[in-house]
Amino acid sequence: MSRNRYAARIWRLTAARLLLSGALLLLGATPTITAARLTSDHFPNVPLINQDGETLQFYDDVIKGKVVSINFMFTSCGDSCPLETAKLRELQKRLGEHVGKDVFMYSITVDPARDTPAVLKAYMEKFEVGPGWQFLTGKKKDIDLIRRKLGMYLEDEDELSDHNINFILGNERTGQWMKKTPFDVPESLVATLLGRLQKRPLGPMAKLDSYANAPTVSRARPGEELFLTRCTACHTIGQGDKLGPDLLGVVSNRDRLWLMRWLQEPDLMLAEKDPLAMALYTKYNKVPMPNLKLESKDILDLISYMQEETRRVRAMALGIAPRANTLKR
Ligand code: HEC
Repeated sequence: MSRNRYAARIWRLTAARLLLSGALLLLGATPTITAARLTSDHFPNVPLINQDGETLQFYDDVIKGKVVSINFMFTSCGDSCPLETAKLRELQKRLGEHVGKDVFMYSITVDPARDTPAVLKAYMEKFEVGPGWQFLTGKKKDIDLIRRKLGMYLEDEDELSDHNINFILGNERTGQWMKKTPFDVPESLVATLLGRLQKRPLGPMAKLDSYANAPTVSRARPGEELFLTRCTACHTIGQGDKLGPDLLGVVSNRDRLWLMRWLQEPDLMLAEKDPLAMALYTKYNKVPMPNLKLESKDILDLISYMQEETRRVRAMALGIAPRANTLKR
């Protein structure tokens, strides 16, 4: 996608978001808010099919009376969807046992012709999606209708990868719906799903991962913010593999030009069957590293961040550097 098209897409996402929030504001302004509540009259009760081949009615079975997270994706998408799926996977982990009980997660394909239940099931296995999060397919026209009703349809989409990559969090019972982006930090999504959107007390929150276990952050270094929002869904530096490899030492282990190009266009390198890229791809469960549309400056910042963080982690292991965030008196 050219820079201009990307900019246009971001603009369209923003415009769609404004439209939705405008609609929600209007609802909020109505005194009889219950009458204006979004109900089955608003949401179509069309049939969808899950990864196990079971039919679910969109209104009755998917959203009615529930707190939900819904996103639209397709399995052959190489740029934004893997990031989105990886972020949702983090979210699922943090929600723990609440998934499938207090919060229901759904990913709906925008490419139903290709994404049959079996294809969705294989995708879930690849991303190690746990229980309580369903992947749904169905008829294209039904799925498009759902996207329209959720304010997630972009009228001038001319290829699948133009689809809106944001996702929706909502409570059908209270009629609260909001859009989030894959760049929101998981903590804020958890707080929304288990806090703001729930109307009844949830019992002890102790089961949740606490803020204390969130990755430690020292003062902002160039590239750090980018790494935390774009990369940590799949990578760590020195804490082991996630969906992608541990990046400790990667900057010195790889040829610099290879690394820079990889960060710029991993999708193209995989398409060209670059031998190292293919070896990594095979090793990491064939999850493709997404093209994150990074600018040259971002790439340089990320490289210096990964390098510096590697140094810090190694020094820490030798006991000669304080933990990040540990204040020394
Ligand atoms: C959706 C998950 C995902 C995200 C997000 C992601 N990566 Fe990756 N990354 C991978 C996977 C998987 C691989 C292994 C190659 C493959 O399967 O395509 C990889 C490979 C790499 C490699 C090569 C490792 C090596 O040993 O040479 C680097 C470097 C890298 N990623 C850096 C990043 C950076 C920096 C970011 C954020 C800007 C990022 N990745 C975001 C999944 C991801």
